[in-house]
Amino acid sequence: MDHASSTYIAHIQRAIASRRSFALGDLSDQPVERTQISQILEAANWAPSHGKTEPWRFVVYTGAARQQLGTAFGHAFRLINPQHAPGSEGEQAQINRAWQAPVWIALGMQPSGKMPEWEDLVAFGCAVHTMHLMASALGLAGKWTSGAVVMHPHVAEVVGFAPATKLYGFFYVGHPAVAWPTGVRQPIETKVRWADE
Ligand SMILES: Cc1cc2nc3c(=O)[nH]c(=O)nc-3n(C[C@H](O)[C@H](O)[C@H](O)COP(=O)(O)O)c2cc1C
Repeated sequence: MDHASSTYIAHIQRAIASRRSFALGDLSDQPVERTQISQILEAANWAPSHGKTEPWRFVVYTGAARQQLGTAFGHAFRLINPQHAPGSEGEQAQINRAWQAPVWIALGMQPSGKMPEWEDLVAFGCAVHTMHLMASALGLAGKWTSGAVVMHPHVAEVVGFAPATKLYGFFYVGHPAVAWPTGVRQPIETKVRWADE
């Protein structure tokens, strides 16, 4: 498809505006094809980075390996909430969480030391966004999740990111079990000032 053709622009516009975040409970149990996971990772790898530092690092959990994540989430919950008795409802909810999506991609940012860290972090954010765009284009339901439990240093260690690579949560992905949600944004006019005269 030619750049600047109306079809190309319409597809890009649709891909951008229809990318949606899905709640974990809105995913089905259906596994995701490995080729689709690869497409998502490949898309992420095309993000821009100043100095070509490409600071994004990913660890993909599927199938039985999600047990490691569930255990790590449960342990992190206990470390954050020492007042809760072992085996509490909250801990169990964190353990169960890992099984609610067929694919969990740990999101790591490895600072290059070559560029200011904020630039690597922004490049990393672009990579996660591109990943999400591809997931949505494939009709898959995903979300970047970044709560205290999933970002806990213990989880980073289990994933194998500590200490150089920073864990910034997970992108989970699966097939949608609900209708595709509609997005909402404040009008762009509320965020832009034109200086043209
Ligand atoms: C860096 C980052 C972290 C996020 N972390 C969470 C999270 O922890 N929990 C959550 O429900 N959504 C999280 N989101 C998703 C946002 O809630 C979501 O993007 C927003 O509601 C807009 O919806 P949309 O993605 O469908 O356009 C995160 C998004 C970004 C960019």
